[in-house]
Amino acid sequence: MQYDFTSVMDRRGLDAVAVEHPPRQPGEEFDLIPMWIADMNFPTVPTIPEAIIARASHPAYGYFNPRQEYFDGIISWHRRHNGVEGMAPEHILYANGVLGGVVAALNVMCSRGDNVLVHSPTYVGFTHALGDNGYHIVHSPLVIQDGVWRMDFADMEKKIVENHIHAAILCSPHNPCGRVWERWELEKAMELFRKYDVYVVSDEIWSDLTLFGNKHIPTQSISADAKQRTAAMYAPSKTFNLAGLVGSYCVCYNPWLRDRMAKEASLCHYNSMNVLSMHALIGAYTPEGDAWLEELRQVLSGNVAFACDFIRERLPGVTVCRPQGTYMLFLDCSEWCKAHGKTVEDVLQRCYAVGVAVQDGRHFHGECHLRMNLALPQSRVEEAFRRMEQYVFC
Ligand SMILES: Cc1ncc(COP(=O)(O)O)c(C=O)c1O
Repeated sequence: MQYDFTSVMDRRGLDAVAVEHPPRQPGEEFDLIPMWIADMNFPTVPTIPEAIIARASHPAYGYFNPRQEYFDGIISWHRRHNGVEGMAPEHILYANGVLGGVVAALNVMCSRGDNVLVHSPTYVGFTHALGDNGYHIVHSPLVIQDGVWRMDFADMEKKIVENHIHAAILCSPHNPCGRVWERWELEKAMELFRKYDVYVVSDEIWSDLTLFGNKHIPTQSISADAKQRTAAMYAPSKTFNLAGLVGSYCVCYNPWLRDRMAKEASLCHYNSMNVLSMHALIGAYTPEGDAWLEELRQVLSGNVAFACDFIRERLPGVTVCRPQGTYMLFLDCSEWCKAHGKTVEDVLQRCYAVGVAVQDGRHFHGECHLRMNLALPQSRVEEAFRRMEQYVFC
């Protein structure tokens, strides 16, 4: 490997939420292994700090407009990674965060109080962002078929019709289930959305993090109709560990939707790009960024394979569908809890007691689930699973 994915990075004293503010108090006898919030414990590609430092070395940081390289970087990234042709700067809208962009899109597509279709399990950020902004989520549960999370198209159709739904959120790849949707699945979903005139916010923040050779398919590439009815959200933040810099963007080809979204996004007067985050994106979306990402995918695939094998072989009663993308694992502990007379609360307490800082799956509509972030050096992932075998699922 050209890049360092094995050294254990010390993030203490650097304000990192992952290590400074875990959702529960960890035990003191073990060091903390941060496996909850969705950021990574790897140093990012060197071209990012280089780009930031180069710009920061000029000591004036006044008002600015994004430079051409910013748009060229995004356009060329999507051409190289997703086969997208025809994207132009006017199709790209800045968003202070993907969730802010999701809300701006819904503000155009819906009236307050409207029903919005969202799959469950559900990324907790959607639950809060929609709830906080007066939208009502109608869940369509994903179902496990032969070890794979799938959309239930009949249920989606029923919910759309019964609830007069005209806006949906598609999480692609899906957090927390780790599905990288296949073309036929997206085609079927988009056909339903066309049939009932449902606008789509496609959250593709995880689209670069595909594992085991799975390929991301942009929702907008499914058909001419899908291209017009979809606002797609992206960011370099998950891919390159840049959440603390803030800088997401929306791709929207429908001029009416785009203009309305731009207006909505402007109303708070906060939706402004940060000059260093612009340079971070320019440093990320480079050929070196491609090479780094390729190695990251291998590392994450290795961690996911290790974890899934470990669970199957050594944690009886715990089940998981092997993710095809993201770096999240969504563990179902219900059989183990039933067999041992325990609750997910007991499991969480035991995990935190030994420093394994996982996330409560109930926040994602997993009744007896844990969400685990595997974006750490493999030695840390192995240590976490050793502790879980010895002290949690025992
Ligand atoms: C599916 C999904 N969308 C959005 C976000 C958050 O994006 P942002 O920090 O840009 O709002 C996350 C973060 O984990 C996510 O998993």
